[in-house]
Amino acid sequence: MFVNFRRIRKCQLVQLMTTCLVLSVLMVCWEQLDANVFGHVKSYSYRYLVNRLDYINKSLTIPREQARSFSDFRYLLDHSGKCAGEDVLLLLFVKTSPENIDRRNAIRSTWGNETYIRSALGATVKVVFALGRPKEAEEEAGQPARGTGLVREDRLHGDLIQRDFLDSFHNLTLKLILQFHWMHTRCAHARFLMTADDDVFVHMPNLVGYLRGASRRGVTDLWVGRVHRGAPPIRSRDSKYYVPFEMYQWLSYPDYTAGAGYVVSRDVADKIYQATLTLNASLYIDDVFMGICANAVGVSPQEHVYFSGEGKAPYHTCIYDQMMTSHGHVEDIHDLWEAATNPQVKQKASGLMGRLYCTAVKMSLLCKPYNFNTYPCKAAFL
Ligand SMILES: *[C@@H]1O[C@H](CO)[C@@H](O)[C@H](O)[C@H]1NC(C)=O
Ligand SMILES: *[C@@H]1O[C@H](CO)[C@@H](O)[C@H](O)[C@H]1NC(C)=O
Ligand SMILES: *[C@@H]1O[C@H](CO)[C@@H](O)[C@H](O)[C@H]1NC(C)=O
Ligand SMILES: *[C@@H]1O[C@H](CO)[C@@H](O)[C@H](O)[C@H]1NC(C)=O
Repeated sequence: MFVNFRRIRKCQLVQLMTTCLVLSVLMVCWEQLDANVFGHVKSYSYRYLVNRLDYINKSLTIPREQARSFSDFRYLLDHSGKCAGEDVLLLLFVKTSPENIDRRNAIRSTWGNETYIRSALGATVKVVFALGRPKEAEEEAGQPARGTGLVREDRLHGDLIQRDFLDSFHNLTLKLILQFHWMHTRCAHARFLMTADDDVFVHMPNLVGYLRGASRRGVTDLWVGRVHRGAPPIRSRDSKYYVPFEMYQWLSYPDYTAGAGYVVSRDVADKIYQATLTLNASLYIDDVFMGICANAVGVSPQEHVYFSGEGKAPYHTCIYDQMMTSHGHVEDIHDLWEAATNPQVKQKASGLMGRLYCTAVKMSLLCKPYNFNTYPCKAAFL
């Protein structure tokens, strides 16, 4: 047996260099890592307390008359008969802003096309857009009269639900409340409620299949999406997600699902509605507020690996076979819709060989270090 010493030394050298490189990268990143990692560890242990005890509920409970100020906005556009007389599988709210008409049109002609969903999938899904009032400046500049653009768009499509609050990032919680209140009064019999951002891609055929299965099994207590566990409030004033101590005083939020897209069953939607009637909704991060409502009524979120949260799905047939949502799609939404609903997707991923092939592909796509921005590695084995 030949032992090549030169080669061993070369290997060791490579190892040594790799170690050095990793260490130096770690040291460079340390300061950032430091704050992040320790913040998470601290809040992660803390979350068990937060999720179990009801002191958040207690401290945020306010009299009903005062809580009403968060839901007491006039409807500027409404469709009260939208769900009437139909067995609605899913009421899907897209959170949008007045100026995002291109995104709404893209959704209407791809995954949110109700006609397609009915004819191709045989399911009744109602896709509506939740929005507030546009900023005055934009209105005056762009429109001959107030809100005409939206009125015209709504006359064409009949799917805008607009309330009289300023449409802004810091009013997102009002938009969340709009959705649960609208469902309660106008569409309470829908089996599921979904809320999604307007730059999210929803794989409607997969989602409909999943929800049908859940409905057949009579699933209740369902709240599914990408779960954030033990997330700490951000106390840095520079951040978009800055939350002052006065607004939320604990070290960690209750568990919640990323606001990009999640689904609740009808019973959960009703409980959340009830919670919004007595909670102080001034916390403006809408998905966190959803977590607080759920915490108050004893509902906890479940993880589904193919709901993406902030992340974007890799473009691949094997992924399309199982994906539910993917975040950050605007320009590519038509192409993705074509590719993801191509009949060949199911063919390629089926059978023993197809499944083996897809597991290998998904492992190579998802099981990489620092793979935070897409589905987790375990999704490869589903
Ligand atoms: C929705 O789908 C139907 C049926 O597939 C199609 O005829 C219609 O053009 C689509 N609508 C839009 C806005 O693309
Ligand atoms: C939220 O909407 C209300 C009602 O229109 C408005 O008074 C308030 O300024 C808005 N808040 C933010 C932060 O935009
Ligand atoms: C709700 O919380 C905010 C702080 O986030 C506080 O300023 C406000 O007074 C509270 N509202 C009520 C009705 O207690
Ligand atoms: C939340 O607090 C309110 C008022 O303190 C109370 O009536 C309600 O039962 C609480 N909910 C839970 C789940 O403890």
